[in-house]
Amino acid sequence: MSENHLSQGGNRSVWSSRLAFILVSAGAAIGLGNIWRFPYMAGENGGGVFVLTYMFFLIIIGIPAMIAELLIGRRGRKNPVDAMKQLAHESNRSGKWAGVGWLGALTLLMVLSFYSVVSGVSIAYLGYAIQGAFSTADTQAILSIWDTVMGRPEILIGWHSVFMIMTMAIVGFGVNQGIETSSRWMMPSLFVVLIVLVVYAAIIGNFKEAVHFLFSFRVQDFTAMGAVDALGQAFFTLATGAGAILIYGSYLSKKTNILNTVFIISVLDLMVALLSGLAIFPIVFANDLSPDGGPGLMFKVLPIAFSKMPGTNIISCLFFLLLIFAAWTSSLSMGEPLVSLLHEKKKISRIRASIYVGLAAWGLGLVCALAFSSWSNFTFWGWHLDDILIGFPTNILLPIGALLFCVFAGWMMQEKFVAEELNSRYAILYLAWRFAVRYLCPIAILIVLLAPLFK
Ligand code: PHE
Repeated sequence: MSENHLSQGGNRSVWSSRLAFILVSAGAAIGLGNIWRFPYMAGENGGGVFVLTYMFFLIIIGIPAMIAELLIGRRGRKNPVDAMKQLAHESNRSGKWAGVGWLGALTLLMVLSFYSVVSGVSIAYLGYAIQGAFSTADTQAILSIWDTVMGRPEILIGWHSVFMIMTMAIVGFGVNQGIETSSRWMMPSLFVVLIVLVVYAAIIGNFKEAVHFLFSFRVQDFTAMGAVDALGQAFFTLATGAGAILIYGSYLSKKTNILNTVFIISVLDLMVALLSGLAIFPIVFANDLSPDGGPGLMFKVLPIAFSKMPGTNIISCLFFLLLIFAAWTSSLSMGEPLVSLLHEKKKISRIRASIYVGLAAWGLGLVCALAFSSWSNFTFWGWHLDDILIGFPTNILLPIGALLFCVFAGWMMQEKFVAEELNSRYAILYLAWRFAVRYLCPIAILIVLLAPLFK
């Protein structure tokens, strides 16, 4: 992949191969959403009912929306705002569609800010793993590490700052071969470590109860808010609805088949989420912990598993290192659209644009860090501040963005342009996708978002 690089201004180049694109997009998709957020969301929303609703939304709404966003990016070949504007003009539609790009930018800024704080927690945990904190600790001591980290905003803010610098530095210099090549070994390694963890969890934990919890559908657990969570999670995990996939699509070769590629990326993404659930819940049930432990679930539960395994230190270091890499490749995909937007619109260098974006997301991240720690008891209309800072961009803004991408690709763009981008060998796939983005996705997203209001 030596010739593989991204444009750093000037001529826009393309990913060198389909594999390169799959790797970076899987990098964007697979991240904290799969390993940290998916299990705790499932735990808070009754398990199976959430998992199955999420899988259903992922397949029937998430994937078609991701395809829509990707094709817009590839055809537009610009930052999300200008890509939307150009495609709108091409199909004689209002330039106001560029607003979808701006909405996405706002969403990504909000997502990046809390994401960086949680990634910072992962770095703090890597530090504990390096010191061997999990090998000597009993369950109670491990649980209290989480409370220590959450009780001290300076730890959160310190590591959040480190992670933000790591992210913006790479984005500033262009997503270079370093990240692309590291994704090549990192994703498979993460997979292997997760499988090892699942096997261990099965040995030392209560695997049967975990499987039952994760996959049995109990209708009485279904709530309108749970459905909103499942929908938001489907988009979040696919990195869809805000322009991250759009920007990666803007560097994609015309030759790549979008439908197959998206299918591969989503399967990988779903597998990592399910493996994480199967690594975490057996331990939860074997240790009488509560599945609805909230954002701390993974950080409390996996170290318990590590502490009971041979090679605690090595496996815990490896896991947190890979988690940080996974989070890093995702955060790049949030930073890239914002930086290219500023760089292309304001004609400032990428480095400068990265500094501005980094500062903005860092500042907002301070609020998140405080919301997780000192301000964790603040509520607004019954909602905790941290739930709002995570929930609003993921559960509301991402679905709205995805809805607009679907409507744009399904109703606004001239069909000949869309068909040209998707030229599938199987007409039936194209027809199914078109039906999904024109009818199924918009209607389903509206119903899910509006349903809680009518309860
Ligand atoms: N998909 C990433 C994850 O699961 C998060 C993400 C959201 C990335 C939105 C880009 C855009 O962790």
